[in-house]
Amino acid sequence: MFEGKTCLLAIESSCDDTSAAVMCDGLMLSNIIASQAIHAQYGGIVPEVASRMHQENISLVVDAALQKAGVSVSQLDGIACTAGPGLMGSLTVGLSYAKAMALTLGIPFISVNHMRAHVLSHFIDEPRPPFPFLCLTVSGGHTQIVLVKSGTDMEVLGQTLDDAAGEAFDKSGKILGLPYPAGPLIDRMAREGKPVYPFPIPQVDGLDFSFSGIKTAILYFIRDEVKKDPAFIETHLNDICASIQHVIVEILVRKVSLAAQLHNISHIGIAGGVAANSGLRTRLTDIGKELGWNLYFPAMQYCTDNAGMIAMAGYFQFIDGHFSPLDTKPFVRGME
Ligand code: KG4
Ligand code: ZN
Repeated sequence: MFEGKTCLLAIESSCDDTSAAVMCDGLMLSNIIASQAIHAQYGGIVPEVASRMHQENISLVVDAALQKAGVSVSQLDGIACTAGPGLMGSLTVGLSYAKAMALTLGIPFISVNHMRAHVLSHFIDEPRPPFPFLCLTVSGGHTQIVLVKSGTDMEVLGQTLDDAAGEAFDKSGKILGLPYPAGPLIDRMAREGKPVYPFPIPQVDGLDFSFSGIKTAILYFIRDEVKKDPAFIETHLNDICASIQHVIVEILVRKVSLAAQLHNISHIGIAGGVAANSGLRTRLTDIGKELGWNLYFPAMQYCTDNAGMIAMAGYFQFIDGHFSPLDTKPFVRGME
């Protein structure tokens, strides 16, 4: 799959992780990620704070990625960078830096769509899915099912109409008084509990998702139970977490199953931070065994936001000669 000698530097700054990666001749030589723990104290990402932190981190992260890879800027053949979707101020920091580097070095600039890059994270390491495959991309900002026909040809079959799956974990956690991001904590506590509280599964047509209803259902349920027993959350936390995880996983698994059936595809990849969820992995693995699926989970460092996946997507575009103008602008939404 990897042709010729190509060395790319990639930059990702769409949300709250500043990341740079170097990929040469198909090998990921470095993938440096500076995460912004500062947002935990605000209970969510503060865009203005995120941009400032990117500004502080970007040079350090790029230098560290080049150093770890043992590659000098003169050896680079191109610079790839996320142009969107994401937070405007955050994107602008990485994009300006990448374009300035490409201009200075006189090498191609490659603008990468963050959502396509999540999908292509499956090609960084073995086993790589064959085309066509379905990708469920689930994170704090995104929930999509994508039909992946090639490295550059993708069709969004369904997506969330409101909150993302990770957001559903995080907002539910906030109702329970858990710190941000609550997803990993809910996962941990769910393992010790049972899904005894039946939160309703929203009825949404086709392959789209909706998570805002369960957030409201959880809010009312907790409010009513706490009225009866002020210690309800503390004494039933594991079961509450198991019930929240159960409904979110069920929504995801039902739609993936429908997509697989409608498109007659058995190769299914899972990308994004929520791919770490043990309940989702177990349920998909069980159902996959029943239905004869081949499941693909990229290594965790390539599931959460990272520049390695931007390098991978940049590589697919590079070998197609798909370069981008230096007046490329950041964008908040979209798959192009
Ligand atoms: O991909 P990511 O690092 O950033 C973006 O949002 O793009 O994903 C972060 C999201 C958060 O919402 C976090 O709560 C969720 O992924 N997450 C999890 C788990 N690990 C991370 N959700 C459920 N279970 C987990 N184990
Ligand atoms: Zn992402």
